[in-house]
Amino acid sequence: MTTSRTRVLLHPDFTVGTVDRRLFGSFVEHLGRAVYTGIYEPGHPTSDSNGFRRDVADLTRELGVTTVRYPGGNFVSNYRWEDAVGPVEQRKPFLDLAWRTVEPNVVGTDEFLQWAEREGIEPMMAVNLGTRGVEEAVALLEYCNGEAGTRWADLRIANGREKPYGVKLWCLGNEMDGPWQVGRKDAHEYGKLARNAGRAMKQVDPSIELVACGSSSMEMPTFGEWERTVLEYTYDLVDHISMHAYYHERDGDRASFLGSGTAMDRFIERVVASADAVGAQHRSDKKITISFDEWNVWYQSRFPGEDNLPVQRDAPRIIEDVYSGLDAVVVGDLLVTLLNHADRVPVACLAQLVNVIAPIMTEPGGEAWRQPTYHPFATTARLARGEALDLRVTTSTITTKDHGEVPAVTAAATLADGAVALFLTNRSAEPVEVELAHLGAALDVTEGWAMTADHDPAVAGPEHAEKVTTEHWGEFDVAGRVAAGDGATTKVTLLPESWTALSGTLTTH
Ligand code: AHR
Repeated sequence: MTTSRTRVLLHPDFTVGTVDRRLFGSFVEHLGRAVYTGIYEPGHPTSDSNGFRRDVADLTRELGVTTVRYPGGNFVSNYRWEDAVGPVEQRKPFLDLAWRTVEPNVVGTDEFLQWAEREGIEPMMAVNLGTRGVEEAVALLEYCNGEAGTRWADLRIANGREKPYGVKLWCLGNEMDGPWQVGRKDAHEYGKLARNAGRAMKQVDPSIELVACGSSSMEMPTFGEWERTVLEYTYDLVDHISMHAYYHERDGDRASFLGSGTAMDRFIERVVASADAVGAQHRSDKKITISFDEWNVWYQSRFPGEDNLPVQRDAPRIIEDVYSGLDAVVVGDLLVTLLNHADRVPVACLAQLVNVIAPIMTEPGGEAWRQPTYHPFATTARLARGEALDLRVTTSTITTKDHGEVPAVTAAATLADGAVALFLTNRSAEPVEVELAHLGAALDVTEGWAMTADHDPAVAGPEHAEKVTTEHWGEFDVAGRVAAGDGATTKVTLLPESWTALSGTLTTH
């Protein structure tokens, strides 16, 4: 690690862009226990008359989730949505090839969209471009958004829902470059299909926003070329290109894991550059933005891989990662990166919401609780409002195996009507004193929260959640860590390997 003073320069006049509320999205896939015994469990003591768990819905509200992507994920690429609408007793189970699980089709489009509506969540739907195509995509859109008088809209009405759902955000398939994807395509095949499906969908409802599939990760061999080719076909039609990224600690390499936010930062910049290169070729003034619709910490090394899963039924436990304080610090830091790209990333989904690599966990028939990763997400979603500020951060660097030199301290800030929120990560193992230089503006920090990484869960469960909030996460007394300087600077002390959120006011005279 090289050493230097850490200084964060901020001023209300320097901004990146407006923080879109859809940045605080999440994801519910028909995978493992995300739906069954996750959001939905008839007979659970807290379930509502529709069979949805109130305890999970309450935690979802508190988490501040604005948007939820559905129904997949890999699942969508072999899904027949029509089989999961109408009278439940007439629906037939099917074997989902993505997760090798028998899907009972009890929760389908109507159940999900009505849950989202009750909970004040904007739905983000995905269409199957793996085993299906234009016709089915258009039919689903018409089912969701159509007015009475057409076949699919009338089917929705016959199924008890008169008013169109008005779903705005639509994903044109999922991870279509991935060898694991049912109906995988090459970039040309997918680009043409996405263009044709997207064009037809916009004819049904021109007000929708479309997301074309980007690469499944930056490590895909076709990364870059995939984005370029897909956007060649779809540039004028789509609004967003998707990004997916999961991070985890490999072989005890803590420094690289703590530097994941820098990897995410570079990934975003590369996708933006690829999209802008196509825009330049098209001599277009339009800017494609990013739907970062899957991001999180996921210990993929603990996952046997889709092909090694046995065929299961009854909501099996699949990828139920138990998170530590370290994972939560990294999640907080990934949010710092997303905020710093507010101008190009309007949509992002923490994957996923409940039980499956999730901030919320449940026991069937039992409790629901918060994982450590819940806290930085909920705090950022609550505090980050208005404009993201364009900060200048001067800090030491840490040398990492996977990402080279990464900043020891990262920062993001937002400002709405004088209310400021600052988010800071200390990736180093030492405490760091940060000088916040606010030039002519007055900064008054009134509240602070911190998450520390020095915790490893031995067991999952509500007791673990309790231990995190008593020992590793919580509000702190700002008087002990924040000191006003000469009027133009404020000093804040960051704990070793920690994520900190501060709130207060930032005003010009
Ligand atoms: O979120 C779990 C899986 O990760 C999704 O189904 C897929 O899109 C991604 O590979």
